[in-house]
Amino acid sequence: NEVSFIMVKPDGVQRGLVGEIIKRFENRGFKLVGCKMMSPSKDLLETHYVDLKSKPFFPGLIKYMSGGPVVAMAWQGKNVVKTGRSMLGATNPLDSNPGTIRGDLCIDVGRNICHGSDSVESGKREVKLWFGDSTEDYSLCTENMIYE
Ligand code: GTP
Ligand code: MG
Repeated sequence: NEVSFIMVKPDGVQRGLVGEIIKRFENRGFKLVGCKMMSPSKDLLETHYVDLKSKPFFPGLIKYMSGGPVVAMAWQGKNVVKTGRSMLGATNPLDSNPGTIRGDLCIDVGRNICHGSDSVESGKREVKLWFGDSTEDYSLCTENMIYE
């Protein structure tokens, strides 16, 4: 089953938006299979964002992401990667539609409160990177109410 790595970034934690972000994924019907608060090492962040290493904003991004604890999550469900991205909204909150997490709750691209995997492959890679094999395997008793 498809998984996405969703993270509440340090600014989202500080602003008290953990519950709001979890609530949106729960309400949609997705299944939480991993969740932990942690202070990621620079090494972990640099591996996570390896594709952005050459970007001018990379050092600032690592500093921002090291600024406090994050809440790392693995969410499972049909099409969760693509749907998760649309629930988060555009990378730059100024372009995010109202109704999306970023479009409702933040302003600056460098303080955009949450992360979501950008492809099924990166979902797998990121869940493995942040959780190893320690995600939960269980079924929701509401599954037949959520899926046809
Ligand atoms: P994530 O879900 O966080 O991975 O965002 P994304 O996939 O929509 O964007 P991308 O992976 O390209 O960038 C990762 C993060 O780097 C973004 O969420 C921003 O926090 C930050 N970022 C991206 N572009 C810029 C930029 O132009 N300026 C600054 N300051 N930060 C940026
Ligand atoms: Mg990304």
